[in-house]
Amino acid sequence: METGFTVEQLRTAATDAVRAPSMHNTQPWRFRLRDGGIEVLVDADRRLPATDPNGWGARIACGAALFNLRLALAVAGTPATVRLRPHPAEPDVVARLVPDVPRHPTPAERALHSAIPRRYSNRAPFWPDPVPADARWRLAEAARAERCWLELLVGVGAVNAFAEIARGAHRVLERSPEYRAERQEWVRATPAPDGVPAASGGPRGEPQDVLPSRGFGGLDRAPGRDFEPEPLVAVLGSPGNTAVDQVVAGQALQRVLLTATDSGLAASMLSQPIEVPSARDQLRLSLGRFGTPQMVLRVGYGQPGWPTPRRVVDEVLDLPVTRS
Ligand SMILES: Cc1cc2nc3c(=O)[nH]c(=O)nc-3n(C[C@H](O)[C@H](O)[C@H](O)COP(=O)(O)O)c2cc1C
Repeated sequence: METGFTVEQLRTAATDAVRAPSMHNTQPWRFRLRDGGIEVLVDADRRLPATDPNGWGARIACGAALFNLRLALAVAGTPATVRLRPHPAEPDVVARLVPDVPRHPTPAERALHSAIPRRYSNRAPFWPDPVPADARWRLAEAARAERCWLELLVGVGAVNAFAEIARGAHRVLERSPEYRAERQEWVRATPAPDGVPAASGGPRGEPQDVLPSRGFGGLDRAPGRDFEPEPLVAVLGSPGNTAVDQVVAGQALQRVLLTATDSGLAASMLSQPIEVPSARDQLRLSLGRFGTPQMVLRVGYGQPGWPTPRRVVDEVLDLPVTRS
């Protein structure tokens, strides 16, 4: 009797997993089959030493990839049970998935799965149309379903207070030549399987912008096409901030992003206020919530863009290892 996942199941699910977001589109993950289980590993060769010295971003990205894996296996009728950080002696293994009882996928799983290839970071200005209450509720529910929270900032005062923290963090990061050089290394002017295509980087920042942009973009903005004056900002947080909490937050992030796509919403991420410890503390205190902020999202109605490239799936697979 077959008790484990097969190479084909791994390859199919990993094809969806690699569509997850990652810092600078580094795609810092590997997937392997070990003793019938699928394991997700941080790829140490794809860390960003200047931007992500502690590996937080890589664990968020691997958590997001793990959420896609879970969805892909569930829609194939072979859902998985997940154990996070299953081997204490191997901290780079962030998760192990083993087959659960086969069942039909739920409509929600099908809807989120079908959103995977349509999701991408939209760094362009959004339309000023407000995001309706039911869509906001769905986003917050998506975070809760993954044991995290999503705080949607309400009112100009809350958004401006956040923007001040974010701009401060942006200025701190921009002072580091290593940080700036690392970002530049991952901007792609010509087609490439990783990194941020210059055309996806959004318009160059201007003084009137409320939120700081990461600085991938060098695009001129069309006259009159400024960023929305009152962006919908959402802060995703997890109960704690251990390595496991960060993987949990990555899964919640992906569930929120796919829910946004499924609701016809565009989103981009801004993590400068998470990366600078003093800014993260300020953000946490300003929210008055228990737990740790793990990501900030800008959500709204955007003009259609296009998904960013990924490496071919076989580049991220380590095929069977059987222990003697
Ligand atoms: C941990 C993490 C931090 C990120 N921080 C930012 C950010 O500060 N600014 C930004 O524009 N995008 C940010 N992103 C989005 C990535 O740049 C994006 O996911 C990647 O380039 C792949 O593109 P895609 O989201 O369109 O698939 C972040 C993503 C992750 C996972």
